[in-house]
Amino acid sequence: MKKILVTYVSLNGHTAQLAEYMAEGIRIAGCEAEEKKPTDIKSPNDLCGYDGYLFGCPTYHRDMPQTMKSLLFMAKNAGLEGKAGGAFGSYTHSGDAPKSIFDTLEHVFKMKVTSLGSLNVVEDKVGTQEYIKACHDYAKSVCEAA
Ligand SMILES: Cc1cc2nc3c(=O)[nH]c(=O)nc-3n(C[C@H](O)[C@H](O)[C@H](O)COP(=O)(O)O)c2cc1C
Repeated sequence: MKKILVTYVSLNGHTAQLAEYMAEGIRIAGCEAEEKKPTDIKSPNDLCGYDGYLFGCPTYHRDMPQTMKSLLFMAKNAGLEGKAGGAFGSYTHSGDAPKSIFDTLEHVFKMKVTSLGSLNVVEDKVGTQEYIKACHDYAKSVCEAA
């Protein structure tokens, strides 16, 4: 069974909620989901052994939190080339972080990113049926790429 890692940062719980829907979507698609906080990933080795990767991150000050930046610097040495990937996050007005992460997965890590691009969910819509389904569909597309 293909195994997908969902790793996310969330200061106020919205992106964490999206991560739960992503994990659900992975299971619905018939894959195994594992969730890990970036702080639990201590070395590039902790990123090995997965077929696909979903990075969740909210936008603060038009940027991603330092924890996610540090994780991405570590992930550079984890041999993610050719692995399936995607990025998502909650935001209110600009939603820069998932886009930046997605760019890094595609252009720096050379991952096989989903054709859906990054999934940015406006905070007020997190938990609505429309966006629960969007998360499930997004997770499915990463499973299919894996
Ligand atoms: C101090 C502060 C700065 C923020 N900056 C941005 C921003 O630059 N762009 C944006 O789209 N949202 C911004 N937001 C909104 C957050 O991205 C939004 O509340 C998001 O849902 C938080 O996700 P989380 O609950 O997973 O931490 C900001 C929120 C706070 C409190």
